[in-house]
Amino acid sequence: MALRICVTGAAGQVGRVISRAAVNKGHTVFGVDLPPGPCPDSADSQRGSYSYQQLDVCDIGGLRRYVEENKCDAMVHMAAVLNNPNRTIKGKEWTESDIHTINTTMSYNILRVSADLGIKRVVQASSVNAIGMLGSDPPIFDYFPLDEKHPFRPQAAYDLSKQICEVQADAFARKYPDMRIASMRYHWVVEPSLLSADALHRRGGEPKGLWGYISEADTAEATLLGLTVPEQTFPTGHEAFFIVAPTQHQQASTAALIDQWYPHSTRRKQWRGNEGLYDCSKAENLLGWTAKISFPWTGPSS
Ligand SMILES: NC(=O)c1ccc[n+]([C@@H]2O[C@H](COP(=O)([O-])OP(=O)(O)OC[C@H]3O[C@@H](n4cnc5c(N)ncnc54)[C@H](O)[C@@H]3O)[C@@H](O)[C@H]2O)c1
Repeated sequence: MALRICVTGAAGQVGRVISRAAVNKGHTVFGVDLPPGPCPDSADSQRGSYSYQQLDVCDIGGLRRYVEENKCDAMVHMAAVLNNPNRTIKGKEWTESDIHTINTTMSYNILRVSADLGIKRVVQASSVNAIGMLGSDPPIFDYFPLDEKHPFRPQAAYDLSKQICEVQADAFARKYPDMRIASMRYHWVVEPSLLSADALHRRGGEPKGLWGYISEADTAEATLLGLTVPEQTFPTGHEAFFIVAPTQHQQASTAALIDQWYPHSTRRKQWRGNEGLYDCSKAENLLGWTAKISFPWTGPSS
């Protein structure tokens, strides 16, 4: 069924990719973000299936009016603030307090407006960092592969804001049992120019992030499935999903990396080659999603 989707963070990397994928699937997208229009990807507006509005998601009144006027029936919440050292275009340097306040206000507003207007399908961007990874010194991983039952131990405001958006979603799902809210714990979303075994390996990556990644195409597919899978296969109100490629991006065996960096974490399986450190079977079982793009390492296995 074609949806009328409000996409927040529509001018950002992931918001643009998802908007494009949604329009290509026949949905109508109402993008919102802070920069003035037109949005960089506004070509689809000529087909009438994409429109963009400058809007601050912290302004709940403006958000409610926009969503209501456009009769949106689905929500994709990608807007967030973070200090990303890899970003080519540097934005404002946010304080930890800014990051916490802005991100948790936006996620609450999105859920509030959705519930008030009877919007039942919501996907929001969480992050692998919700459990406490890149912002933690050091992160503690009880076991591998990580699944969605792993405890949360965030230290930094960004990571904490992602845990809180998931807690907010739990609360709304309790009060509004007809809602279906998917929190997507994306790993590093890789733009096409970096999407090769060599480029990913060369970039390196921190042991704290467990060398994960996900292509833009797989990210968009998982997000749209979060909105569209039937309720029979997504039977409960709120679910979080790890969205990560099935291999890690180092040309080294995963078993050797665990030996070197996380010798005290429990191992729940035997790794072959560079198989990844995340278990994404929940997304496969509930959403029918598996990552299509990954780079198995062909070197010696462990
Ligand atoms: N890109 C990744 O590797 C990655 C990985 C894990 C999770 N995520 C999450 O996915 C989402 C999208 O990430 P991205 O890489 O596209 O980030 P991005 O920074 O490229 O885009 C985020 C957008 O949110 C907008 N925004 C911020 N505050 C806003 C406000 N008050 N009102 C309206 N818009 C506002 C920004 O202007 C920006 O365009 C974020 O929530 C991020 O935390 C991204």
